Amino acid sequence: MRLTVIGCGYLGAVHAAAMADLGHHVLGVETDPARLERLARGEAPFYEPGLDELLRRGARTGRLRYTAALDAAAARADVHFLAVGTPQSPSGRGADLSHLWRAVDSLAAVLPRCVHPDGMPLVVGKSTVPVGTAQQVADRLAGRALVVWNPEFLRESMAVADTLSPDRIVYGLPDETARAERARTILDEVYAPILAAGAPRLTMGYQTAELVKTAANAFLATKISFINAMSALCAATGADVTVLADAIGRDARIGPHFLRAGLGFGGGCLPKDLRGLEQRAAELGANGLASFLGRVDSINRGQRDRVTQMALEALGPDAAGRAVTILGITFKPDSDDLRDSPVLEVALRLADAGAVVTVHDPRGLAGLSRLHPVLRTQPDALRALEGAELVILGTEWKELTDLDPEAAAARVARPVLIDARNALTPSRWTAAGWDYHGIGRPSEPRRSAPRRRALAGTMVG
Ligand code: UDX
Repeated sequence: MRLTVIGCGYLGAVHAAAMADLGHHVLGVETDPARLERLARGEAPFYEPGLDELLRRGARTGRLRYTAALDAAAARADVHFLAVGTPQSPSGRGADLSHLWRAVDSLAAVLPRCVHPDGMPLVVGKSTVPVGTAQQVADRLAGRALVVWNPEFLRESMAVADTLSPDRIVYGLPDETARAERARTILDEVYAPILAAGAPRLTMGYQTAELVKTAANAFLATKISFINAMSALCAATGADVTVLADAIGRDARIGPHFLRAGLGFGGGCLPKDLRGLEQRAAELGANGLASFLGRVDSINRGQRDRVTQMALEALGPDAAGRAVTILGITFKPDSDDLRDSPVLEVALRLADAGAVVTVHDPRGLAGLSRLHPVLRTQPDALRALEGAELVILGTEWKELTDLDPEAAAARVARPVLIDARNALTPSRWTAAGWDYHGIGRPSEPRRSAPRRRALAGTMVG
């Protein structure tokens, strides 16, 4: 089939490459010249495992091409995917839909009017939008296209697999039965290999499909904030939140995922989607939901305060001039994304307090010193530790959690460690002489009555 993907950011670039890999002819529409140039060369504009290979294959087979603008020829495609960004609005907590409306208007300008729905192309919304937006898109494209809302649930670092083997595919369909049927049939044809492999396809109305996406992210955020709130109680009592999470997660109704206490969630999706849903809930009078989501957000942000406070206490009365090394700066491992990175915020606050902050990260250093000249960068992990008076593990990259505690101890000036992702085995680090501080966990497996440590006592959030 002939497809366009409008907007080749994270979501669109991966979607376009995946659709070409399924055998479709895909035209990616991207207005950012730098990104367009990299994509056209068959290179991923960001680090995403497996994406380069898909992009190269798409370029080699000629099935994946790019353009800066949608023209009448491009508009002859069977299906147009809307994959533009919907960032948090600079003026509030809701979403900025300006890119979406520009994309919809550009489609409206080139799609011919059609008397019968059978002659219309399909426009498939993948961007995350406030509930009610899909109907507005359908209204703007009335008489030119059928509209489906088909949210995307991909995770960074797993984006290719999540697109080609999703847990589920959601179709938000028009109310009218014949239109819904035709839209479903076309989209089934696009996703035929994925559906044949057994991915469940769920059909529903526009509003439900829009809400499925934001509710999924809000629920994941809630799990993380719940365990982080519990970790404060664990810290106050000598309990171990990692053991607690493992024990509750074995109940199939709770499940083991998204119960890792630490610095909390960041990135380009969870925080902004949570705030977007909170804003929309407030606008529509669902005040209980709005205040609940606001609490999830504030607990999450509190984790950054908590770790900053732990760091300042570990440094003593004056942080000025003290050497701090941050291991891992991206919002999660296997990604070079710094958007709303929790540890980046902590690093900047420590630098503000006068600390000399050195950052090491396997992928996140490019552009960091340009964006934040106050942070020093060091591409070698052991060298980054040289002379440190405090080390903070901020992102649980495997190469960082695999570091040898003894080799690390030999480099630092003071072996004091905040494991802000609870990703290390405390006994390994304490055995090598480190003063270990996790989030809501004692430094060693408890053998006797809980020992209150000065730092742990302060960790009640
Ligand atoms: C998320 C959703 O998972 C995905 O379905 C949606 O489409 C986009 O948003 P992503 O932003 O890639 O994906 O990150 P995710 O893996 O969900 O992690 C988000 C944040 O939560 C990271 O900062 C991570 O470190 C943190 N996290 C995750 C925790 O603090 N604890 C956990 O237990 C899990």
